[in-house]
Amino acid sequence: MDVIHSVTELRARLYDERQVALVPTMGNLHDGHINLIQLAKPRAACLVASIFVNRLQFGPGEDFARYPRTLAADCARLAQAGCNVVFAPDEEEVYPEPQEYTVDPSSIQNILEGAFRPGHFRGVATVVLKLFNMVQPQIAIFGKKDYQQYLVLREMVKQLAMPIEIIPAETVRAPDGLALSSRNRYLNHMERVEAIALYHHISQIRQALQRGQRDFAALESEAVNALDARGWQTDYIAIRRQSDLLEPDAHARALVVVAAARLGTTRLIDNLEVDLS
Ligand code: PAJ
Repeated sequence: MDVIHSVTELRARLYDERQVALVPTMGNLHDGHINLIQLAKPRAACLVASIFVNRLQFGPGEDFARYPRTLAADCARLAQAGCNVVFAPDEEEVYPEPQEYTVDPSSIQNILEGAFRPGHFRGVATVVLKLFNMVQPQIAIFGKKDYQQYLVLREMVKQLAMPIEIIPAETVRAPDGLALSSRNRYLNHMERVEAIALYHHISQIRQALQRGQRDFAALESEAVNALDARGWQTDYIAIRRQSDLLEPDAHARALVVVAAARLGTTRLIDNLEVDLS
Protein backbone atom coordinates (compact mmCIF):
# COMPACT_ATOMS: atom_id res chain seq x y z
CA MET A 1 0.00 0.00 0.00
CA ASP A 2 1.33 3.44 -0.95
CA VAL A 3 0.91 6.35 1.44
CA ILE A 4 0.98 9.56 -0.58
CA HIS A 5 0.90 13.16 0.60
CA SER A 6 1.10 15.27 -2.56
CA VAL A 7 -1.18 15.65 -5.57
CA THR A 8 1.77 15.37 -7.98
CA GLU A 9 2.78 12.00 -6.53
CA LEU A 10 -0.84 10.87 -6.46
CA ARG A 11 -1.34 11.69 -10.17
CA ALA A 12 1.85 9.80 -11.05
CA ARG A 13 0.77 6.77 -9.01
CA LEU A 14 -2.73 6.66 -10.55
CA TYR A 15 -1.71 7.54 -14.13
CA ASP A 16 -2.13 3.98 -15.46
CA GLU A 17 -5.06 2.97 -13.30
CA ARG A 18 -8.27 2.55 -15.27
CA GLN A 19 -10.67 1.73 -12.52
CA VAL A 20 -10.30 3.66 -9.30
CA ALA A 21 -12.63 3.65 -6.30
CA LEU A 22 -12.36 6.41 -3.72
CA VAL A 23 -13.38 6.30 -0.06
CA PRO A 24 -13.04 9.82 1.37
CA THR A 25 -12.56 10.01 5.15
CA MET A 26 -11.30 12.31 7.88
CA GLY A 27 -9.38 9.45 9.46
CA ASN A 28 -9.54 7.95 12.95
CA LEU A 29 -10.93 4.94 11.20
CA HIS A 30 -13.42 2.55 12.78
CA ASP A 31 -15.37 -0.47 11.50
CA GLY A 32 -17.85 1.84 9.71
CA HIS A 33 -15.05 3.21 7.53
CA ILE A 34 -13.57 -0.25 6.98
CA ASN A 35 -17.00 -1.42 5.82
CA LEU A 36 -16.83 1.23 3.06
CA ILE A 37 -13.41 -0.09 2.05
CA GLN A 38 -14.75 -3.64 1.90
CA LEU A 39 -17.70 -2.51 -0.22
CA ALA A 40 -15.36 -0.68 -2.62
CA LYS A 41 -12.70 -3.38 -2.86
CA PRO A 42 -14.37 -5.78 -5.34
CA ARG A 43 -15.60 -2.90 -7.50
CA ALA A 44 -12.30 -1.43 -8.68
CA ALA A 45 -8.77 -2.53 -9.50
CA CYS A 46 -7.34 0.33 -7.45
CA LEU A 47 -8.78 1.36 -4.12
CA VAL A 48 -7.87 4.80 -2.77
CA ALA A 49 -8.76 6.03 0.72
CA SER A 50 -8.26 9.70 1.48
CA ILE A 51 -7.61 10.99 4.97
CA PHE A 52 -8.02 14.72 5.43
CA VAL A 53 -9.57 16.69 8.29
CA ASN A 54 -11.25 19.39 6.26
CA ARG A 55 -11.23 22.74 8.07
CA LEU A 56 -13.72 24.17 5.57
CA GLN A 57 -16.58 22.01 6.84
CA PHE A 58 -16.12 22.88 10.54
CA GLY A 59 -17.88 25.93 11.98
CA PRO A 60 -16.33 28.31 14.50
CA GLY A 61 -16.45 26.65 17.92
CA GLU A 62 -16.73 23.14 16.43
CA ASP A 63 -14.23 20.36 17.06
CA PHE A 64 -11.70 20.91 14.22
CA ALA A 65 -8.76 21.35 16.62
CA ARG A 66 -9.55 18.34 18.80
CA TYR A 67 -10.69 16.03 15.98
CA PRO A 68 -8.66 12.81 16.50
CA ARG A 69 -5.72 12.41 14.09
CA THR A 70 -4.35 8.85 14.05
CA LEU A 71 -2.61 8.41 10.68
CA ALA A 72 -0.29 5.51 11.60
CA ALA A 73 -3.07 3.37 13.07
CA ASP A 74 -5.37 4.28 10.17
CA CYS A 75 -2.77 3.17 7.60
CA ALA A 76 -2.32 -0.14 9.40
CA ARG A 77 -6.07 -0.83 9.25
CA LEU A 78 -6.29 0.24 5.60
CA ALA A 79 -3.37 -1.99 4.58
CA GLN A 80 -5.04 -4.92 6.28
CA ALA A 81 -8.33 -4.19 4.50
CA GLY A 82 -6.65 -4.34 1.09
CA CYS A 83 -6.47 -0.63 0.31
CA ASN A 84 -3.97 0.18 -2.48
CA VAL A 85 -3.33 3.89 -1.94
CA VAL A 86 -3.78 6.21 1.04
CA PHE A 87 -3.93 9.86 0.07
CA ALA A 88 -3.21 11.94 3.18
CA PRO A 89 -2.51 15.50 2.07
CA ASP A 90 -1.72 18.29 4.48
CA GLU A 91 -3.66 21.52 4.51
CA GLU A 92 -1.41 23.45 2.11
CA GLU A 93 -1.73 20.70 -0.45
CA VAL A 94 -5.54 20.91 -0.52
CA TYR A 95 -5.84 24.64 0.16
CA PRO A 96 -2.65 26.30 -1.18
CA GLU A 97 -4.56 29.56 -1.34
CA PRO A 98 -7.81 30.74 0.24
CA GLN A 99 -10.63 28.69 -1.28
CA GLU A 100 -12.64 31.36 -3.10
CA TYR A 101 -14.38 29.02 -5.51
CA THR A 102 -16.76 26.78 -3.62
CA VAL A 103 -19.64 24.42 -4.34
CA ASP A 104 -22.96 25.62 -2.97
CA PRO A 105 -25.35 22.70 -2.68
CA SER A 106 -28.98 23.49 -3.45
CA SER A 107 -31.55 24.29 -0.78
CA ILE A 108 -30.81 20.99 0.99
CA GLN A 109 -27.82 22.71 2.63
CA ASN A 110 -30.15 24.93 4.65
CA ILE A 111 -32.21 22.27 6.41
CA LEU A 112 -31.52 19.86 9.32
CA GLU A 113 -27.69 19.54 9.68
CA GLY A 114 -27.27 22.57 7.43
CA ALA A 115 -29.49 24.70 9.65
CA PHE A 116 -27.43 23.84 12.74
CA ARG A 117 -24.06 23.89 10.96
CA PRO A 118 -24.15 26.84 8.52
CA GLY A 119 -21.65 26.42 5.71
CA HIS A 120 -20.99 22.78 6.61
CA PHE A 121 -22.22 21.27 3.35
CA ARG A 122 -20.48 23.93 1.27
CA GLY A 123 -17.26 22.78 2.95
CA VAL A 124 -18.06 19.10 2.40
CA ALA A 125 -19.10 19.50 -1.26
CA THR A 126 -16.08 21.68 -2.03
CA VAL A 127 -13.51 19.30 -0.56
CA VAL A 128 -15.16 16.25 -2.10
CA LEU A 129 -15.14 17.94 -5.53
CA LYS A 130 -11.43 18.71 -5.05
CA LEU A 131 -10.72 15.12 -3.96
CA PHE A 132 -12.64 13.86 -7.01
CA ASN A 133 -10.48 16.07 -9.26
CA MET A 134 -7.29 14.95 -7.56
CA VAL A 135 -8.06 11.21 -7.57
CA GLN A 136 -10.41 11.07 -10.61
CA PRO A 137 -12.23 7.95 -9.41
CA GLN A 138 -14.97 6.14 -11.34
CA ILE A 139 -16.63 5.11 -8.08
CA ALA A 140 -16.96 6.76 -4.67
CA ILE A 141 -18.48 5.29 -1.53
CA PHE A 142 -20.30 7.25 1.19
CA GLY A 143 -22.00 6.05 4.36
CA LYS A 144 -25.68 6.56 5.06
CA LYS A 145 -24.68 7.35 8.65
CA ASP A 146 -24.30 10.90 7.25
CA TYR A 147 -27.55 10.71 5.33
CA GLN A 148 -27.79 14.36 4.32
CA GLN A 149 -24.14 14.40 3.25
CA TYR A 150 -24.78 11.37 1.04
CA LEU A 151 -27.77 13.12 -0.61
CA VAL A 152 -25.83 16.38 -1.07
CA LEU A 153 -22.97 14.55 -2.81
CA ARG A 154 -25.26 12.34 -4.88
CA GLU A 155 -27.02 15.49 -6.14
CA MET A 156 -23.74 17.30 -6.76
CA VAL A 157 -22.53 14.50 -9.02
CA LYS A 158 -25.87 14.34 -10.80
CA GLN A 159 -26.40 18.06 -11.30
CA LEU A 160 -22.82 18.77 -12.35
CA ALA A 161 -22.72 15.71 -14.64
CA MET A 162 -19.64 14.26 -12.98
CA PRO A 163 -18.74 10.81 -14.38
CA ILE A 164 -18.67 9.13 -10.98
CA GLU A 165 -20.91 6.44 -9.54
CA ILE A 166 -21.86 7.15 -5.94
CA ILE A 167 -22.47 4.04 -3.86
CA PRO A 168 -24.15 4.28 -0.45
CA ALA A 169 -23.12 2.04 2.46
CA GLU A 170 -25.30 0.99 5.39
CA THR A 171 -24.56 2.33 8.87
CA VAL A 172 -22.35 0.11 11.03
CA ARG A 173 -23.31 0.02 14.72
CA ALA A 174 -21.80 -1.10 18.00
CA PRO A 175 -23.47 -4.21 19.51
CA ASP A 176 -25.76 -1.99 21.64
CA GLY A 177 -26.96 -0.07 18.55
CA LEU A 178 -24.88 3.12 18.78
CA ALA A 179 -23.78 4.18 15.28
CA LEU A 180 -19.99 4.07 15.07
CA SER A 181 -18.41 7.52 14.81
CA SER A 182 -15.00 9.05 15.37
CA ARG A 183 -16.75 11.44 17.76
CA ASN A 184 -17.82 8.57 20.06
CA ARG A 185 -14.36 8.74 21.56
CA TYR A 186 -15.25 12.10 23.13
CA LEU A 187 -17.84 10.32 25.32
CA ASN A 188 -16.93 9.45 28.90
CA HIS A 189 -18.04 6.12 30.33
CA MET A 190 -21.43 7.29 31.58
CA GLU A 191 -22.14 9.21 28.39
CA ARG A 192 -21.24 6.17 26.31
CA VAL A 193 -23.88 4.15 28.18
CA GLU A 194 -26.45 6.93 27.77
CA ALA A 195 -25.59 7.48 24.07
CA ILE A 196 -27.78 4.59 22.88
CA ALA A 197 -30.87 6.58 23.91
CA LEU A 198 -30.63 8.43 20.56
CA TYR A 199 -30.82 5.18 18.59
CA HIS A 200 -33.45 3.88 20.97
CA HIS A 201 -35.76 6.85 20.32
CA ILE A 202 -35.44 6.81 16.53
CA SER A 203 -36.07 3.04 16.64
CA GLN A 204 -39.24 3.70 18.61
CA ILE A 205 -40.37 6.18 15.97
CA ARG A 206 -39.68 3.62 13.28
CA GLN A 207 -41.79 1.06 15.12
CA ALA A 208 -44.63 3.56 15.54
CA LEU A 209 -44.54 4.36 11.81
CA GLN A 210 -44.57 0.67 10.99
CA ARG A 211 -47.63 0.26 13.23
CA GLY A 212 -49.43 2.90 11.14
CA GLN A 213 -48.96 6.00 13.30
CA ARG A 214 -49.04 9.07 11.01
CA ASP A 215 -48.91 12.04 13.39
CA PHE A 216 -45.31 12.89 12.50
CA ALA A 217 -45.15 16.08 14.57
CA ALA A 218 -46.33 14.25 17.72
CA LEU A 219 -43.79 11.45 17.26
CA GLU A 220 -41.00 13.97 16.73
CA SER A 221 -41.78 16.18 19.70
CA GLU A 222 -42.35 13.21 22.03
CA ALA A 223 -38.84 11.94 21.23
CA VAL A 224 -37.23 15.38 21.55
CA ASN A 225 -38.88 15.92 24.95
CA ALA A 226 -37.87 12.46 26.16
CA LEU A 227 -34.22 12.99 25.19
CA ASP A 228 -34.08 16.50 26.63
CA ALA A 229 -35.57 15.17 29.88
CA ARG A 230 -32.62 12.76 30.09
CA GLY A 231 -30.17 15.66 29.88
CA TRP A 232 -29.58 15.79 26.13
CA GLN A 233 -29.78 18.98 24.08
CA THR A 234 -31.60 17.85 20.99
CA ASP A 235 -31.11 19.81 17.77
CA TYR A 236 -33.76 17.92 15.81
CA ILE A 237 -35.55 14.62 15.42
CA ALA A 238 -37.41 14.63 12.12
CA ILE A 239 -39.35 12.22 9.92
CA ARG A 240 -38.47 13.04 6.32
CA ARG A 241 -38.59 11.68 2.78
CA GLN A 242 -35.62 9.50 1.84
CA SER A 243 -35.37 11.14 -1.59
CA ASP A 244 -34.73 14.76 -0.55
CA LEU A 245 -35.20 15.07 3.24
CA LEU A 246 -38.25 17.29 2.77
CA GLU A 247 -41.37 16.83 4.93
CA PRO A 248 -43.47 13.85 3.82
CA ASP A 249 -47.20 13.89 3.26
CA ALA A 250 -49.33 11.27 5.01
CA HIS A 251 -49.03 8.88 2.04
CA ALA A 252 -45.25 8.88 1.73
CA ARG A 253 -43.73 5.40 1.98
CA ALA A 254 -39.95 5.82 1.78
CA LEU A 255 -39.14 7.66 5.00
CA VAL A 256 -36.08 8.28 7.11
CA VAL A 257 -35.96 9.33 10.74
CA VAL A 258 -33.00 11.71 11.15
CA ALA A 259 -31.69 12.97 14.48
CA ALA A 260 -28.96 15.14 15.97
CA ALA A 261 -28.40 15.82 19.67
CA ARG A 262 -25.69 16.85 22.07
CA LEU A 263 -24.72 14.79 25.08
CA GLY A 264 -22.32 16.84 27.20
CA THR A 265 -19.90 18.35 24.71
CA THR A 266 -20.39 15.65 22.08
CA ARG A 267 -22.77 16.10 19.17
CA LEU A 268 -24.13 12.82 17.81
CA ILE A 269 -26.17 12.18 14.66
CA ASP A 270 -28.06 9.09 13.60
CA ASN A 271 -30.86 8.01 11.28
CA LEU A 272 -33.01 5.03 10.35
CA GLU A 273 -34.74 4.40 7.05
CA VAL A 274 -38.34 3.24 7.22
CA ASP A 275 -39.90 1.63 4.16
CA LEU A 276 -43.66 1.26 4.46
CA SER A 277 -45.06 -1.01 1.80
P1 PAJ B 1 -15.87 10.81 8.07
O1 PAJ B 1 -16.74 11.28 9.17
O2 PAJ B 1 -14.49 10.33 8.40
O3 PAJ B 1 -16.62 9.67 7.31
C1 PAJ B 1 -16.07 9.08 6.15
C2 PAJ B 1 -17.13 8.19 5.53
O4 PAJ B 1 -17.43 7.13 6.43
C3 PAJ B 1 -18.44 8.93 5.23
O5 PAJ B 1 -18.97 8.50 3.98
C4 PAJ B 1 -19.32 8.49 6.38
O6 PAJ B 1 -20.71 8.53 6.09
C5 PAJ B 1 -18.84 7.06 6.59
N1 PAJ B 1 -19.18 6.56 7.94
C6 PAJ B 1 -18.89 7.13 9.13
N2 PAJ B 1 -19.39 6.39 10.15
C7 PAJ B 1 -20.02 5.33 9.58
C8 PAJ B 1 -20.76 4.22 10.10
N3 PAJ B 1 -20.94 4.03 11.41
N4 PAJ B 1 -21.27 3.33 9.21
C9 PAJ B 1 -21.10 3.49 7.87
N5 PAJ B 1 -20.42 4.53 7.33
C10 PAJ B 1 -19.89 5.44 8.17
O7 PAJ B 1 -17.84 12.15 6.28
C11 PAJ B 1 -16.71 12.61 6.33
O8 PAJ B 1 -15.67 11.99 6.98
C12 PAJ B 1 -16.32 13.90 5.63
O9 PAJ B 1 -17.41 14.77 5.64
C13 PAJ B 1 -15.81 13.69 4.18
C14 PAJ B 1 -16.88 13.07 3.27
C15 PAJ B 1 -14.55 12.82 4.17
C16 PAJ B 1 -15.44 15.08 3.56
O10 PAJ B 1 -14.51 15.73 4.34
